[in-house]
Amino acid sequence: MKRREFIKTGIAGSLALSGVLNLHRSELKGAPAVGNNSNQINKNTMKIVVLTGSPRRNGNTAFLADNFIKGAKEAGHNIFRFDAAFQKVEGCTACNSCGMNGPCVLKDDFDTLRPHIIEAGMVVFVTPMYYFGISSQLKKVIDRFYAINGQIKGSPKKAAYMMAYANTSDSEAQPMVSHYQTLVDYLGWKDVGQIIAPGMWPAGAVKNTNFGNKAYQLGKSV
Ligand SMILES: Cc1cc2nc3c(=O)[nH]c(=O)nc-3n(C[C@H](O)[C@H](O)[C@H](O)COP(=O)(O)O)c2cc1C
Repeated sequence: MKRREFIKTGIAGSLALSGVLNLHRSELKGAPAVGNNSNQINKNTMKIVVLTGSPRRNGNTAFLADNFIKGAKEAGHNIFRFDAAFQKVEGCTACNSCGMNGPCVLKDDFDTLRPHIIEAGMVVFVTPMYYFGISSQLKKVIDRFYAINGQIKGSPKKAAYMMAYANTSDSEAQPMVSHYQTLVDYLGWKDVGQIIAPGMWPAGAVKNTNFGNKAYQLGKSV
């Protein structure tokens, strides 16, 4: 499928972004909340889906997720956490039988996640850097958005990003940040925060930093 078709199909399946082919961040900022659904953007209680991508249960990104969740729960939100590394999620096979908006031929743990992503008022992506990118565990989950693209593209969701990596160069993190921003812009979601934690090598290194508190504060603020 060509990129233009990809964008069009997503919009055709979503509710009402008539005439808009590509949303940009500047267009989203300040966009009013619409409707009275549970996924509208406001300060009311919402469902937040937290997607983690590390196979280290006590790793740095798990700690960021824990802290975000603590803050978000204190703010009154409902959390659905999906630790991709401990779930069975196959990679999209590009069969296209879903047409970007329908049942997926793959039957695995994405079935559990699917309704939560659709309903959520916010999705948080949490990942270690693996060879300069999102971990494959999380990326497989994101690729499975393909089958629900028509239901989530243009839905007024918030999004946030938290990542950790061993090196300290900003430029090495930039492609991952750019990837996240491009994804969120494409989906028409509103980025509300990013926590980028460099210099994190062994599991637990992040506990000696202020990033846990930043994640907690982010959770409280949404
Ligand atoms: C397979 C693998 C690839 C990695 N690739 C990178 C990398 O490209 N750049 C980097 O700075 N750190 C890299 N790291 C280090 C992790 O990003 C770092 O340890 C991070 O804090 C792990 O987060 P976690 O504890 O949540 O798993 C890699 C680690 C693994 C296991």
